[in-house]
Amino acid sequence: MRSWLFVPGDDERKLAKGLSSGADALIIDLEDSVALSRKAEARRVTTEFLSRARGETRLTALYVRVNPLDSPFNIADLDAVMPARPDGIVLPKAQGGPAIQQLSVRLAVNEAEHDLVDGSTGIVAIATETARSLFHMGSFAGASHRLRGLAWGGEDLAADIGAEINRDADGHYTDPYRLARSLCLIGAAAAEVLAIDSVYTNFRDMDGLRLETESGKRDGFGGKMAIHPAQVPVINEVFTPSPAALAHARAIIEAFAANPDAGVIAIDGQMIDKPHLRQAERIMARATRGQTAL
Ligand code: COA
Ligand code: MG
Repeated sequence: MRSWLFVPGDDERKLAKGLSSGADALIIDLEDSVALSRKAEARRVTTEFLSRARGETRLTALYVRVNPLDSPFNIADLDAVMPARPDGIVLPKAQGGPAIQQLSVRLAVNEAEHDLVDGSTGIVAIATETARSLFHMGSFAGASHRLRGLAWGGEDLAADIGAEINRDADGHYTDPYRLARSLCLIGAAAAEVLAIDSVYTNFRDMDGLRLETESGKRDGFGGKMAIHPAQVPVINEVFTPSPAALAHARAIIEAFAANPDAGVIAIDGQMIDKPHLRQAERIMARATRGQTAL
């Protein structure tokens, strides 16, 4: 899934708009974009929205970002939204595999209480928001079959570290955030789940968004989070393999299928071996996993 659009969970207008934005997933937020005084209202609005959207054919997966596991809101958030069967839960401030296992237990209890299929609720972790979390990035592999993706964020991490700012004068992330980004990418690959790039907060700057999205795709991210509907088409476009990339991937797969004993082959004067085959299969999977009705 390419585009993951954040929508504040207490804002009915934005929720409706999000659903028609073309995003592959909405992240309906009960955490940082909702004021303390609005937490209960956000749970009510979100649950109603999920229940309504459930009955309709959708192209957009519906995830809910709950409050962190150790906050006083986490259990109430889950109790409120789980009867409305979200496709998944986004866990902020996630501290490695043990946090995923703890959330998974809470989801299993809710699924049992509401007659939902055991294990049907997915999890995406925002995995780099605290200094401590960076030391747990290798522990997501095997934590839970519910885990669908790892995302990273630099804003909360900067606050935790005590940084004044997280980008340099040219707008590039400074070292601690580049490290968080890399660890997220590598942790996701090790856990065999989607790596989801962080938000681009300047939502009027489409050129900057495109550049950052392209560098994410180049490095191995499979999707990116968004905060504004205008960012969705750019993200979708960048993460959709071009016809030329698809044709090249297909040629590699067909060439290896036609030569099952070959370790290395030549296509258009280029040496192609097993890593290229894996890459080609990944591109094909991305194309076929595009948008399917939920
Ligand atoms: N999801 C759905 N709709 C959104 C949206 C979002 N994330 N952000 C903006 N819109 C809607 C607006 O409601 C507005 O709709 P309208 O024309 O029907 O009134 C339209 O898109 C244009 O919005 P715009 O005026 O350009 O922006 P804004 O000033 O209303 O909102 C933000 C700016 C940043 C407050 C808003 O984009 C937002 O709430 N983003 C999500 C924030 C969030 O969830 N953060 C947590 C994770 S980092
Ligand atoms: Mg945050």
